[in-house]
Amino acid sequence: MAVQEHEHVGGIGHSVKRREDDRFIRGAGTYVDDISLPGMLHMAILRSPVAHARIVSIDSSAATALPGVVAVITGNDLVAHNLAWMPTLSGDTQAVLATDKVRFQGQEVAAVIAETPYAARDGLELIDVEYDELPVLVNPFKALEDGAPLIRDDKEGQDSNRCYSWETGDKAATDRAFDEADLVVKLATHYPRCHPSPLETCGIVADVNPSTGKCVLHMTSQAPHAIRTLFAIVAGLPEQNIQVKTPDIGGGFGNKVPIYPGYVVATAASLLIGRPVKWIEDRSENLISTGFARDYHMQGELALTRDGKMKAIRVNLVSDNGAFFADAQPSKCKVGLFHIVTGSYDMPAAHVVAEGAYTNKAPGGVAYRCSFRVTEASYLIERLVQNAAAELGIDPAELRRRNFIRSDQFPYTSATGFVYDSGDYHRALDLALDKLGYDDLRAEQARAREQGRYLGIGIASFTEVVGAGPSKDYDIAGLKMFDSAELRVHPTGKAILKIGVQTQGQGHETTFAQIVASELGIPSTDILVQYGDTDNTPYGLGTYASRSTPTAGAATSIVARKLRDKARKLAAHLLETSEEDLEWETGKFSVRGAPDRSVTIQDVAFAAYTNHPQGMEAGLEGVTYYDPPNMTYPFGSYVVAVEVDTDTGQWKVTRMIAVDDCGVRINPMIVEGQIHGGLTEGYAIAAMELITFDEDGNCIGQNFLDYLLPTSWDTPPFELYATETPSPHHPFGAKGVGESATVGSPAAYVNAVIDALQPLGVTNIEMPLTADKVWAAIQEAKARTGS
Ligand code: CDP
Repeated sequence: MAVQEHEHVGGIGHSVKRREDDRFIRGAGTYVDDISLPGMLHMAILRSPVAHARIVSIDSSAATALPGVVAVITGNDLVAHNLAWMPTLSGDTQAVLATDKVRFQGQEVAAVIAETPYAARDGLELIDVEYDELPVLVNPFKALEDGAPLIRDDKEGQDSNRCYSWETGDKAATDRAFDEADLVVKLATHYPRCHPSPLETCGIVADVNPSTGKCVLHMTSQAPHAIRTLFAIVAGLPEQNIQVKTPDIGGGFGNKVPIYPGYVVATAASLLIGRPVKWIEDRSENLISTGFARDYHMQGELALTRDGKMKAIRVNLVSDNGAFFADAQPSKCKVGLFHIVTGSYDMPAAHVVAEGAYTNKAPGGVAYRCSFRVTEASYLIERLVQNAAAELGIDPAELRRRNFIRSDQFPYTSATGFVYDSGDYHRALDLALDKLGYDDLRAEQARAREQGRYLGIGIASFTEVVGAGPSKDYDIAGLKMFDSAELRVHPTGKAILKIGVQTQGQGHETTFAQIVASELGIPSTDILVQYGDTDNTPYGLGTYASRSTPTAGAATSIVARKLRDKARKLAAHLLETSEEDLEWETGKFSVRGAPDRSVTIQDVAFAAYTNHPQGMEAGLEGVTYYDPPNMTYPFGSYVVAVEVDTDTGQWKVTRMIAVDDCGVRINPMIVEGQIHGGLTEGYAIAAMELITFDEDGNCIGQNFLDYLLPTSWDTPPFELYATETPSPHHPFGAKGVGESATVGSPAAYVNAVIDALQPLGVTNIEMPLTADKVWAAIQEAKARTGS
């Protein structure tokens, strides 16, 4: 498809302005908390103040008696309806409201339903819970020790805090490569727990109509169809009576994929009371109890030859999953898609061993702007490569070039069995280095060091794996991963596209219309994109892990092509010629050799309802369910320049060059917006975001004073460039982009600081790189090296 042709219809390749922004910038969006229904009640949740305790008793009589309180619900009330526990997305069970024990600070213990949000909150104060405190485990290594107190004593046969063991790769080949290596570089690192922190917290308005049984759930979900089915299965409700409606969503970033107890309790309350029930969590509730991300303790080893050829990677990791194994990831993938740990390199062997630990922390493990644990893998390999370059005395850019998978090696099968579709890694890195002025900056770095100034250059060349996924390999809670699109062209040539994925700010209303515009020649402004209402959109698995473009984007393209095929038949009828004699140019069929004999797509659409040939079905509409043959593999190179103040440990980003390749770009401006957001999140994770716990299991990071997010003042300037290497199997060559920058960039920032401090002997600092940690690492290195 020659994308330049589609400018007049606002098609693929053009920076069409985001249609949805009109209502957003006018403050006219509709979020869940904007919904108010007649007779609506309000729910507030009582959460555990302690991290591990047996529940001795819950006395809710005073709360129940409070004027305005309609009901208090405890775990024991839910037992009667078989709803006290629910399945997680990783095949574990999770308490909806605690019955036996609380297992993390912030766990849901009871819910108050009241006439006003204030009465609901006041009711919480009057519930008296007696806790018998138990030893707390916040360290996954201690949790895995023999004899550690058992967190999940609710699970039959569970006699340790191990929640899974998993392995991939070829151990024997990897061991052999390590035996033969000239150099083995090691790095033990923790990718810390952080939180997606969407601007809008989670919430629901559950509206069960007692007379019809229709259950309408207005909720913050990235995966409305999956939620509908899981609610039907778990709650035993007839699926045709459940309608999940997701209005405007104020950011998800993976946080709005799981099913949270608040959703279940509000629905049960509406069902039992017969009135709509609203639950909107506050910021602290969101930070302490909803899906966290990362928390991987990784030991990586890289085997190399003396001249810098990578031979194998070996990883042992322990994941801290919190009290319930609730990672949002495909069923088969205990460590998400960590398989991508060989990165962008032609690595003959790999072996990964992983163990998951239950601890007294919130569950989650969501794909925070990441394709299921790819971020941790990408960070590890890029940090290892940096250290290998230092140990070998080879320039880090040159070491990467020597090992990149070459463009003529695609499709490339990695040592963990993933087939990378396409790439040109050398080009992306060279472009980034060129834009930075790499050689000049290295010379300046050397001069600065002589003057006692510490400049650093950090590189991260990442490969991502997005577009889950081929249904033979990927499912969420048993639901196969495909996606869908339904397209209806109306008689006047205007169209409605309904998609199974769910925008949370990515601009689908604009970009998906652009796909139809390119395929059918209908101006993108004439196409309304609908999503997020399970009664009125085709089934889909939702939006996370940058899957929308590779899956529903492909479905959109294919359904539009189906309609174009029918349009061709209609055009042949209108022009009284054969289909074979017709030529298509965006938006118009003309008779070959007689270009003045033509009909527009709008003429054809009108004929589909007013003048269709006998024997042909009327109308111009269709639906496609698309099961991708493979994942797509976006990639890029990020180069960061920093200056570190060794007296204070503060560091400042002076340049940040990002070269991204997500195949054919539908809307370059939106892609850049995605990358800006991702680079900011990557910077935040490298520099400041952290959820941690004290030894009693108190969560540190319960608000935005403790959990630091960068403001526009803190955020470095970004310089963006692109290459476009099409995916060979995607209908128009696109790959996903939504998360690449968050996945790829943290290692670039950290590598830059390590590069600056290398002369002092600093080889690792754990994220987030706060000034005090950087300063401490400098002092430790100075003491060690005597410098
Ligand atoms: O699944 P999610 O929407 O988060 O990620 P995505 O598929 O990477 O898309 C993010 C946004 O970037 C969407 O509006 C896409 O249509 C757009 N995009 C694009 O314009 N070109 C691409 N090659 C990939 C995404």
